Formats: sequence, C-alpha cells, structure tokens
Amino acid sequence: MYEELIDRLSRTGALSAEEYLVLIQNRESVREALAERARTARERFYGNRIYIRGLIEFTNYCKNNCYYCGIRAGNTAAERYRLSPEEITGAADTGYDLGFRTFVLQGGEDPFYTDEMLADIVRTIKTRHPDCAVTLSLGERDFESYRRLREAGADRYLLRHETANPAHYATLHPAAMRFENRLRCIRDLKSLGFQVGIGFMVGSPGQTDRDLADELLFLKEMQPHMVGIGPFLPHQNTPFRGEAAGSAELTCFLLSLIRLTLPSVLLPATTALGTADPLGREKGIMAGANVLMPNLSPVSVRKKYLLYDGKICTGEEAAQCIECLKNRVRKTGCEIVVAKGDHPDRAD
Ligand code: 5AD
Ligand code: FES
Repeated sequence: MYEELIDRLSRTGALSAEEYLVLIQNRESVREALAERARTARERFYGNRIYIRGLIEFTNYCKNNCYYCGIRAGNTAAERYRLSPEEITGAADTGYDLGFRTFVLQGGEDPFYTDEMLADIVRTIKTRHPDCAVTLSLGERDFESYRRLREAGADRYLLRHETANPAHYATLHPAAMRFENRLRCIRDLKSLGFQVGIGFMVGSPGQTDRDLADELLFLKEMQPHMVGIGPFLPHQNTPFRGEAAGSAELTCFLLSLIRLTLPSVLLPATTALGTADPLGREKGIMAGANVLMPNLSPVSVRKKYLLYDGKICTGEEAAQCIECLKNRVRKTGCEIVVAKGDHPDRAD
C-alpha cells in the first residue's frame, strides 16, 4: 500500500510534505522496507565504509540560553572548562595516531576564543596533518569571522538549525536567538565554500509529525553536505527538565528518510542516539547512517560537556571508544575506515 511512495522516494529523492507525513505516521509498517532502501542508497556512494570524526569539545562556556541545552549560560551548576590551544592540537595529534582524519572542534558560543586564536589552532592542525579535514562547530558568528576561519584552512562547519519551523524555534530559544540569523549563518557558510552540516533534534518539546515532514522538505531545499540529528534528551538543570525524551526508533526512521531524500549526504549516528538506546548507533547505521563521531576530548573534561543527562562514553579513553566502535560497526556488516571522508561532491 505504501510501496508506491517508498519506490518514488527511492527513485526521485522527493515527496510532498503530506506524503512524508503518511510514511512517518505509518512507520511501523514501512520501517524495514525503508531501511533496506536506505542501506542500498548509502552503498551506492559509500560501499560499506563508515567514516569517523574525532570530536574535541574544547569549551563548555556558552553565552546562549537554549532551553534544552545543559551547557546554557543559565545553568550555574555546570562546571565550566576551557582547553588551551596546546590541549586542542594535542587531542588532534592523539586522534591522528588512532586513525582519525577529521577533527571536529566543538564548543559553546564562548567569546574567550577570538578569531585569531581559533585561526591559529586550525592552521596548526592543518599544518601538522595536511591529510586531515578540520570541522568547526562554534555556533553563530558573523561573516567576517567565518571568512577568517575558512581562510585559516577550516574545511567544514556544523550548525544545526534545530527546527525548520520558525514558530517552533521561538519556543526552544530565548528571544535573543533568531531563526533568521541561523539561516543567515548557514548561507554565509555555504557561500564561503565550507562543507556544511545542518540538523535538528527529534522529539523536542512541541514538535509535531507535520514539523518532521517539513524538516525533510527543508533539508531538500538547503542541500547540506551533512545532516546531524539526534533525539532530544532532557537535562536536569534546564527549563525542559520535565519534558519527554525523543525516541531512538523515530530518529532511526528519519535517518532512513534523510538518506533517501539526500542519498549522498554524510549522516552520523549520533552520541544522543547511542544514549537514548544502548544499540542506537548500530541501529542508526542499519537505518542508513555512515558517520560516527567519537569523543577525543581529554577524559578529565568529558563529564563536563553534558548537553543532556546520561551521555555515554564520558569515562572511556579515546582508544577504548574506537576499539568498541570497530566491533559494534562490524556487527552491522560495515567497516570503519581511515579516511578524510569528504562529501562526494567535494572529494579530491
Ligand atoms: N538533547 C539532545 N540534543 C541536544 N543538543 C543540545 N542539547 C540537547 C539535548 N538536551 C544538540 C543540539 C545542538 C547539538 C550540538 O547538540 O542539536 O545543535
Ligand atoms: Fe565509547 Fe563504546 S564507543 S565505549
């Protein structure tokens, strides 16, 4: 009965919002058929290769106050830390030896790190490891700042839009944060030649199935190189502490829809997915994901970068996580590879 929709999505990468909604609302009946098509689409571009990105969470200071996020400025219980430039580049060196060829520098919006400091860190990593990509995930900045970071050699930028519905956006963030500015940032980043990652939380408070259907249209329109999604998970020291968590099952279903909508997109099975379900990352890969982003931050700070409660892998050494992940990935029939893992449109 849903065969025609699944077939058309697989062939054309596009459905109407109403059609996406039908699939989302009947996901029990279509999940496996969709996941199978999603795996086939992934294989066409990536074979059975899974890319890894070393995540360096270098500051948990943040000037913003997103209602969902554990490192929001208003959380006075958070123990704040900043890594020095040497600690950041050192984490990348460690990661290189473990087989990482992409480093993701992620932090809260922390004005302590000036453009100059960040550009220096990017240049150092790119000089020491010219065969690697540097991805930044530093939130909203002005065009000139993005331009300097790009000039310093940064290759990619992750900036989730969180929700494609501006009214919904306004219920997840204080008035100082504007959906329009998010879009401006994403456009600036694209125009500067970054490979750009956007994304949203699944099951954030107030999100409807129709919103999710609209997310797929938004992704199609924006044509990102990467899409990061994960279930919303409550954090005890945020206004959303009492809200229900998003589900791993729905997240995986959306991963399949995203894979079929943007077949060549780089699509991580995220840490939040692995937190919502102990087998979440494996299930994400079985649903069509092709990227994992293990933590490379020093173990001493890992418990402090808590965006949500219960985050996994906060006690493990980087070397332990990568071994653990290799075993987990093998069980899905895929294989972690030592590769930069550019988007096919950008591969050298
Ligand atoms: N639950 C799930 N994901 C969250 N993020 C922030 N807070 C939470 C939470 N409580 C996600 C946001 C952000 C990314 C870095 O982490 O989507 O963009
Ligand atoms: Fe960190 Fe399994 S990935 S312990």
